[in-house]
Amino acid sequence: MAMHCGLAAEVDLLVVNAAQLLTCAPARERPKVGEEMLQLGIIEGGAVAVVGERIAAVGPTEEVLRSVRCGPRTRVVNADGQVVTPGLVDPHTHLIFAGWREEEMELRLRGFTYLDILRAGGGILSTVRATRAASLEELVRVGLQRAWEMLTQGTTTAEAKSGYGLSLEHELKQLAAVREVNARHPLDLVPTFLGAHAIPEEYSGSPERYVDQVVEEMLPAVARDGLAEFCDVFCEPGVFDLKQSRRILTRARQLGLGLKVHADEIHPQGGAELAAELEAASADHLVAVSDEGIDRLAASGVVAVLLPGTSFVLGGRHAPARRMLERGVAVALATDFNPGTCPCNSLPLIMVMGCLCLGMRPAEVVNAVTINAAWAIGRAHDIGSIEPGKLADLVVFEAPNYKYLCYRLGTNLVRMVIKRGQVVVER
Ligand code: NIG
Ligand code: FE
Repeated sequence: MAMHCGLAAEVDLLVVNAAQLLTCAPARERPKVGEEMLQLGIIEGGAVAVVGERIAAVGPTEEVLRSVRCGPRTRVVNADGQVVTPGLVDPHTHLIFAGWREEEMELRLRGFTYLDILRAGGGILSTVRATRAASLEELVRVGLQRAWEMLTQGTTTAEAKSGYGLSLEHELKQLAAVREVNARHPLDLVPTFLGAHAIPEEYSGSPERYVDQVVEEMLPAVARDGLAEFCDVFCEPGVFDLKQSRRILTRARQLGLGLKVHADEIHPQGGAELAAELEAASADHLVAVSDEGIDRLAASGVVAVLLPGTSFVLGGRHAPARRMLERGVAVALATDFNPGTCPCNSLPLIMVMGCLCLGMRPAEVVNAVTINAAWAIGRAHDIGSIEPGKLADLVVFEAPNYKYLCYRLGTNLVRMVIKRGQVVVER
């Protein structure tokens, strides 16, 4: 039966005849786990009716057509032979930065590790130098360009972190750039403060003093100006230890921010356990997560945001996705788009990696980049599934079924992107 709400109004946009409409419903009071991750709520021959920026009805095409009121201004999109999904959600990106680091890829090929390069003043610190030197306008310009790259590949909402400023002035500049790109572009951005991304060079001899600065100066300023919804920390041996991470995140929580953790990315340090203890929205990376950490994530409902693109680029191990899924952890996938460890902002490519590198099944992958990704950024009430009342964020893919989405790599299959009820990409 067609599900609907608010049908009195005339429909603005109607997508009909989808070979498969992946509703990813029902969205419950928590992210999907276990068997639920295999359920996509598929409607064959499905339709979606949109009024304004929201979904008014969803169901088999004939039922939706019977239950809604169309008029001369209703735009009808025939998705015959195509797959319709919720707009893809990228819950972990470092969208705003200046400069690229292609030379580091060759250093890694020659045997230097990611942490070697960071310790030698490269890596994150080289992007910090470039980002500090860039104007707000320049950061907005590159941010807009990258937002278009993402939107044309089906991403309709993305998280965006600071973390390449590492001083009050430049962290605020990065977050201002996120705000400006969000205002000027159809892609919705969710801002995260990542002042604790690295110890800046000027504090290299006194990391504790930098932590003081993050806690006493930066976090209050970010919270006062409402510039971020989340606070994240790179909790990694040699970067921020467990005690420093706990201190920063606890202060952020007092100030009303949601929490995220770059946890157990390279070496295990109890980052997943910390995320569980503090009831973070997500723990991200988790390549080196302990069994204890996995069980704590499962028990606490913290979303594990896995980043196979990063492992692929660094040429290392992948996160133990299957073990997490089997133990009941809610898994999401993201790009981790950044100039060092993943210069890729294509969620469709990450979906293929979810299958081929992490051993996830196509249905698990689709839930991981829609509804569970929405949970990881606190937006599941509004996006991540095709249900009446939610934002009309939809993607029409040139694909006969959902498995094909996780199989064809390197070709953009997006035919149309609908954001808040507007057709914003059409190819
Ligand atoms: O998520 N690991 C820390 N931060 C990023 C990389 C940032 C960079 O290398 O510029 C990540 O992988
Ligand atoms: Fe990251």
